[in-house]
Amino acid sequence: MKPDAKFISFEGIDGCGKSTLLDRLCAWLDESRIPHIRTREPGGTFLGESIRRLLLDPAYHMMDAWAEVFLYTASRAQLVREVIKPALQDGVWVVADRFIDATLAYQGYGRRLDVQRLRQIQAWASDDLWPDHTVLLDCDVHVALERLHDRLEVADRMELQQVSFHQRVRQGYLELAQAEPQRFVILNGEKPLTEVVQDLLTLFWHPHCHRSRQVAAQ
Ligand SMILES: Nc1ncnc2c1ncn2[C@@H]1O[C@H](COP(=O)(O)OP(=O)(O)O)[C@@H](O)[C@H]1O
Ligand SMILES: [Mg+2]
Repeated sequence: MKPDAKFISFEGIDGCGKSTLLDRLCAWLDESRIPHIRTREPGGTFLGESIRRLLLDPAYHMMDAWAEVFLYTASRAQLVREVIKPALQDGVWVVADRFIDATLAYQGYGRRLDVQRLRQIQAWASDDLWPDHTVLLDCDVHVALERLHDRLEVADRMELQQVSFHQRVRQGYLELAQAEPQRFVILNGEKPLTEVVQDLLTLFWHPHCHRSRQVAAQ
């Protein structure tokens, strides 16, 4: 694996602004001529997009929590081997709209499944691949849900969960970030978008990432 390819995941509850921020980051990576790909979960492969339709369809409201874990995990296993690892090996940055932490937060904290057991399954299914950096966009649940209402799309199965579920997920993400401060960065997703973008780009100018950017931009 070339040392300059970064793997950065974006996490946070629905409506916190991940996709919007990723649009901006990818535009910046384009301008900086840093080769990159963007992935999303569940999905990102032909198989994964089929699994996505199952997972988000409100018709499956009776889905068992462990069945949910294995569907998300199957999508991720395919994504890791088909897309993420080959890209990193080619020196291409990977920016991911959700990764392993989403399973820990949603199924561990949200559905109250055993987080340690979930971690083991994820390590096994994803070949022990963890992001170099994980950006947690933290946002009040009511603010995030309000934004989703404004988006005028039909709510999916996960978005239809109770407010208390989303609150447990938010809290779970914060606990995961506090437990791994070297990997996680927490951004305040309630700030205006231009400020969130600025906070993110400031991070990427940090000396720790700067060398990689220089190398990749050549
Ligand atoms: N910082 C922000 N301030 C206000 N609105 C935002 C901000 N970030 C995103 N939005 C809006 O909130 C909605 C949800 O954002 P989105 O990026 O789709 O969230 P996610 O991908 O995390 O579910 C979109 O309509 C988007 O335009
Ligand atoms: Mg999104």
